[in-house]
Amino acid sequence: MKEIQIRLENRISTVRVGGSINELPELAPPEKTIIVTDENLNRLYHEKFSGYRVIVIGTGEGIKTVNTVEEITSKMIQYGADRSSFLVAVGGGIVCDIAGFAASIFMRGIRFGFISTSVLSQVDASVGGKNGVNLGGLKNMLGVFNQPDFVICDHEMLSTLPDVEYTNGLSEVIKSACLGDTQFFEFLEENKNQILEKDMDVIHEFIKRSVMFKASIVEEDEKESGIRKILNLGHTIGHGLEKIKSIPHGFAIAAGMGAAAEFSVKLNLLNKDCAIRIMSLIDSLGLDSNLKNFVSEENIEELITAISSDKKKQGASVDFILLEDIGRPVIKKIEITKLRELLGDLLNGV
Ligand SMILES: NC(=O)c1ccc[n+]([C@@H]2O[C@H](COP(=O)([O-])OP(=O)(O)OC[C@H]3O[C@@H](n4cnc5c(N)ncnc54)[C@H](O)[C@@H]3O)[C@@H](O)[C@H]2O)c1
Repeated sequence: MKEIQIRLENRISTVRVGGSINELPELAPPEKTIIVTDENLNRLYHEKFSGYRVIVIGTGEGIKTVNTVEEITSKMIQYGADRSSFLVAVGGGIVCDIAGFAASIFMRGIRFGFISTSVLSQVDASVGGKNGVNLGGLKNMLGVFNQPDFVICDHEMLSTLPDVEYTNGLSEVIKSACLGDTQFFEFLEENKNQILEKDMDVIHEFIKRSVMFKASIVEEDEKESGIRKILNLGHTIGHGLEKIKSIPHGFAIAAGMGAAAEFSVKLNLLNKDCAIRIMSLIDSLGLDSNLKNFVSEENIEELITAISSDKKKQGASVDFILLEDIGRPVIKKIEITKLRELLGDLLNGV
């Protein structure tokens, strides 16, 4: 187990990478704690919740809404929750995002923690204090920055995670390696087979490195006014793609990272060999780096509209995270007209 502390202005959040759900009673005693989980996790792990008050929500991006927050907080009132109550989310990114938001606004905010159960949430969603819900089909439009007291990344629980969700989460791992450092990237390249075979030691290592990387960025820029924006590598196109094609988050981000690598080459920032290396790693881990496999030239305007309604859009240009090398991200403002041209070239194979 590796304990990583995220030190912020007025608090410390602790991430226990390789911790266990069995630590829950010690960290959050049942008398004060309400658990929020989803149907799948409740079915598989309800015995671990014995003695706790539990709120079970549905699954899928469609339930990440204010209605679900209202359901959770109404149930908390029925359970007699007050300002001294503690909320624990047990689940993937969706449960953690919603429950973290509910805890942050319930009676102006109560303390909360996460038992993170998917690869995506262990490496990304539950680290960094972003909590929120979607609004009118727009992702994460309502939300807060607020850190959980603790995050437990229980690797054993990943054994019940469906394969497609495991692969989905690898996308954010590759993203951290592309942004972080060459050693991490090489570790993934050298351990492709072990990653695919779900070797526990390798899983622990890539989750630990991803969390350490994200923690270092969040400590520097908790509210995303500067460097934290780099974590959006692949997300500008990825979020647009998620909107128009209903592709799982990680798969959309993978195609977005592939496009970002190709754009970086087109804009003379990155050499072609490096882009090929990034795209090969994405493809070899069961994801697909090729945007052309998801959209065609006819979808360009739809994709641009979807990208433009994203939070990262500023006026007639979009903030893009591009790469000069592995470990060397840059933020570039790209005019919508230029984006149209880059997408056209990419989708026409120019
Ligand atoms: N807050 C952030 O910083 C941040 C960062 C990245 C992504 N996100 C958000 O995270 C969400 C996606 O997270 P996700 O991919 O974890 O999705 P998810 O929470 O929907 O989990 C995926 C599926 O796997 C199931 N599952 C999770 N853990 C399981 C386990 N151990 N065993 C069996 N089944 C399990 C869930 O029930 C669900 O059906 C998106 O809404 C995205 O916007 C947030």
